[in-house]
Amino acid sequence: SRQTDLREPAPGEVEQEDTPAVPPRSMGLLRERHDRLRGRITEGSRPAVERQRALGKRTARERLDLLLDEDSFTEIDMYRRHQAADLGMGERRPHTDGVVAGSGTIDGRRVFVYAQDFTIFGGSLGHAHAAKIHKVMDLAIATGAPLIGLNDSGGARIQEGVMSLDGYGGIFRRNVQASGVIPQISVILGPCAGGAAYSPALADFTFMVRDTARMYLTGPDVVEAVSGRRVTHDELGGAEVHGGRSGVATFVHDDEESALEDVRYLLSLLPSNNLEPPPALPPCQATTDHRPAFAEIVPVEPNRPYDIRSVVAELVDDGEFLELQENWAQNVVCALARVDGEVVGLVGNQPMVLAGVLDVAASQKAARFVRFCDAFGIPLVTLVDVPGFLPGPDQEHAGIIRHGAKLLYAYCEASVPRVQVILRKAYGGAYIVMDSRSIGCDLSLAWPTNEIAVMGAQGAVNVIFRKELAAATDPAELAAELVTEYSERLMHPHYAAERGLVDDVIDPAETRAVVARGLAMLRNKRQTPPQRKHGNIPL
Ligand code: HXC
Repeated sequence: SRQTDLREPAPGEVEQEDTPAVPPRSMGLLRERHDRLRGRITEGSRPAVERQRALGKRTARERLDLLLDEDSFTEIDMYRRHQAADLGMGERRPHTDGVVAGSGTIDGRRVFVYAQDFTIFGGSLGHAHAAKIHKVMDLAIATGAPLIGLNDSGGARIQEGVMSLDGYGGIFRRNVQASGVIPQISVILGPCAGGAAYSPALADFTFMVRDTARMYLTGPDVVEAVSGRRVTHDELGGAEVHGGRSGVATFVHDDEESALEDVRYLLSLLPSNNLEPPPALPPCQATTDHRPAFAEIVPVEPNRPYDIRSVVAELVDDGEFLELQENWAQNVVCALARVDGEVVGLVGNQPMVLAGVLDVAASQKAARFVRFCDAFGIPLVTLVDVPGFLPGPDQEHAGIIRHGAKLLYAYCEASVPRVQVILRKAYGGAYIVMDSRSIGCDLSLAWPTNEIAVMGAQGAVNVIFRKELAAATDPAELAAELVTEYSERLMHPHYAAERGLVDDVIDPAETRAVVARGLAMLRNKRQTPPQRKHGNIPL
């Protein structure tokens, strides 16, 4: 049980006494003792470290080494220990209290970090542990630097009772204070149980690693006790579940190394705080780019599927983009990338999944992304090819009205530069929601394949000519004629442009160039929202 006590008692010393029994006589001795202690703290307890490795996990310090620039880490509160005495805690007071906290740089840019150390009390959160996290959070907010939490914890430290809960409350309050001020990233590298799961939920991005990361409010034992149902840790809250079903995980990785590598990539696309512009690279002549491939990717027939990610790849610099929540609500794609060196947030309907309709999950996913981009000054590019909202009792009962309103709200509120590109279909309410001119997009572009309308031609004819079709001798022939007439009159490629709802109808091959020029045109956009405490987004 003493494995995690890192302070080796000197001969004759009463274990855990705070001052050494024999006073050191020289600076040399003091330094030697100090170095030994420091070495023991950073090395950790060998058996506990071995157990951590056997679980397929790295130590907190190894993780920080992977995450941060070499030799950039400044540790804070290394010697901190808990002051609890109950339930045998008085005999076990390891330094760090199970979390390594401080600051370092990523590609030369300042970040604040904490890494929970599962080898000490299972990374559980006691009062001192929480106070260390509070300190780095306060410093991150005060200095305007991103906050990254590496989570590997059994949750509230049971022996410390309500003080642990108080510690969690302090983290959540700071998460909310920091929201929209500095980017917050949570990386789940082990258990993240109970209250611990709420901090990642409040963060902007959550990474999970397959097989080792798991998040849930109540573990399998409690689930069984309450419902009689036996579930595994992974079935309840593994990376696949949160990456594909709940949408809790923004990114899922096979191993810690690639997860931490992607944290670095993500940060390269984010400003350090809401007052700084996103980090731009030098322009790369996107404004004159001619890309015939666009027209090859998107079929002319409105119902033929294609992968919107191919359009994104063609549009952005070097074909490189970071997709969020790629396995959840796949009917909408959200990604960060650069166009002509400038960071942009892309939202695109995905015709390959559910024909690209908007449903509850897609609305939530896109709404949160739009709000993140808006909070951090990242311009939005919206690629529209949407047949509408998904109809049916399931969606209605699940609250598509409420959830669709989130996306509408998020776009209406966004004051960053907003460019809309209508590739093909844009029908009904979904057209309005996908950053239409009416809700405030700054530049609306459409391909000659655009079909902007209240609904598709066939559906429209069935509604407005129901009686005529019922009375016709050849309803199919009449319907075909009416569909052609409707399409020619109300859905032709310049219909919306003639009415000012589209700024330009463009050759698909010019899409990258026109979007890049549009973003350059809008770069200094400023909008001051009316004064209010905050709006009331439908939650
Ligand atoms: C104190 C804890 C602990 C905890 C683990 N440990 N969780 N100590 N408080 N919450 C200790 C263990 O006693 C053990 O100590 C060491 O960490 C490693 O734990 P193991 O159980 O041996 O590891 P493993 O088998 O890998 O299981 C990990 C685990 C399990 C799944 C996380 O430990 C577990 O279920 N823990 C309890 C989870 C939980 O219910 N937490 C409270 C949630 S309630 P030794 O000395 O043997 O090394 C909560 C409320 C907050 O968080 C609400 C705020 C809103």
